[in-house]
Amino acid sequence: MTAPPSANAPAPRAGRGERIAIRGDLLDFVADPEWGATDSPAVRFRPDTWVLAEDGRIVGVQADAPDPTWQRDDHAGRLVLPGFVDTHVHSAQLDVIASYGTELLDWLTTHTFPAEARHRDGAHAEVAAAHFLDALLAHGTTSAVVFPTVHAASVDALFAAAETRGMRLVAGKVLMDRNAPAELVDDVATGEREMEALVARWHGRHRLAYAVTVRFAPTSSREQLALAGRLCRADPTLYMQTHLAENRAEVRWVHELFPEARSYLDVYANAGLLHAKSVFAHGIWLDDADRAAIAAAGAQIAHSPSSNLFLGSGLFGWRAARDAGIHVSLASDVGGGTSLSMLRNMADAYKIQALAGERLTAWTALHAATRGAAVALGLAGEIGSLEPGTLADVCVWDPAAGTVATRRAAAARSLHERVFAWMTLADERNLVAAYVAGKARYRRRGERVILSEAKDPGVAPPRDPSLRSG
Ligand code: GUN
Ligand code: ZN
Repeated sequence: MTAPPSANAPAPRAGRGERIAIRGDLLDFVADPEWGATDSPAVRFRPDTWVLAEDGRIVGVQADAPDPTWQRDDHAGRLVLPGFVDTHVHSAQLDVIASYGTELLDWLTTHTFPAEARHRDGAHAEVAAAHFLDALLAHGTTSAVVFPTVHAASVDALFAAAETRGMRLVAGKVLMDRNAPAELVDDVATGEREMEALVARWHGRHRLAYAVTVRFAPTSSREQLALAGRLCRADPTLYMQTHLAENRAEVRWVHELFPEARSYLDVYANAGLLHAKSVFAHGIWLDDADRAAIAAAGAQIAHSPSSNLFLGSGLFGWRAARDAGIHVSLASDVGGGTSLSMLRNMADAYKIQALAGERLTAWTALHAATRGAAVALGLAGEIGSLEPGTLADVCVWDPAAGTVATRRAAAARSLHERVFAWMTLADERNLVAAYVAGKARYRRRGERVILSEAKDPGVAPPRDPSLRSG
């Protein structure tokens, strides 16, 4: 342990010009790791290193402690990663996470729509948005692509809460004008008016961006899909998010509702909703032509492992998507998903691939939740890595918690083995701190930050040699 700052040390600067340095074992990616490679040049592991941030941005990375004018958070021996990016999650569904007994379409009507209807109350939406974002941070997720509800107040509440916390958020009013309860549908004219106002209020403000948000094809008329497409065409900086080919009964329903479309994806493509800023959740039941079209558009699939298992939706063909050239990011899809923890979702993703006869490395999983998501969203200059110039969205993790994980970590002989065991066994209880743009927005209860003078890095706990090589 290092000494507390001495009384006459220069005080760390506050406010503008704020400088913070975080010490730990830095892990991020410089490229997309090759499928199946446990030893990959795309992995950047820098043991016992300081990451330096000034005015919210990473300005450097160095082995030695910076001078005492920096606030120094010494997490020697812990993992330091970019904050996770959850590319598909529902802010109004925390109240129905872990609901028993249904597949997608029943689950929506039995559990989900009633929970979302409660968000017409603006006060409820505000409390829920704050709780949701604090929960994301407490799970190590600092950026997200989010479905709130159809209610404009729920979108306002979510964006406002994200702005308060300085988070990168992509979200938009959920569009539904059929096949849903009356309190959750609107008409094309209302949808258009509310979307335009929300885009004007929030798109491009601070770290916020608007996504044209079509719930899924069955709950939108052709007219509403056409409106969504018009908006995307009018402003190519807007994102688009929706669900795609998640469940077999859903796919059959789409074929009944849109018999003219070759495939589920084509319903969206025909409406102008397939483009480089499209985020398609799930994409399980696709064919090669769909995959080729998604890749050609530069769109992404937000793979949602715990949701796919919990709702019995199917086994995502990650390898086929990747071989087709599709960006695959990772998502919790709470409340269909069973945890906001991206680590829990990575562990589930591994099991899905195992059932599909594939092996998912820790590198591919972690990349999908960090740099891969950032690249897919066109935000690699801002999030997803510890690269100087990006915003300092950084999380500090215990490499093991509890006796079983600690013993397993000690037995690991390579970096991949150790990180894979961490990914498989860890969850939000391993999270020590989450920084958003250089500010600590979450610290584990009872966690004592060591503000280190750290003139002598030699006082740190001995380094584990197993962590030094790839
Ligand atoms: N398809 C349409 N709406 C939803 C939703 O809220 N969650 C999931 N998982 N799939 C959907
Ligand atoms: Zn979803």
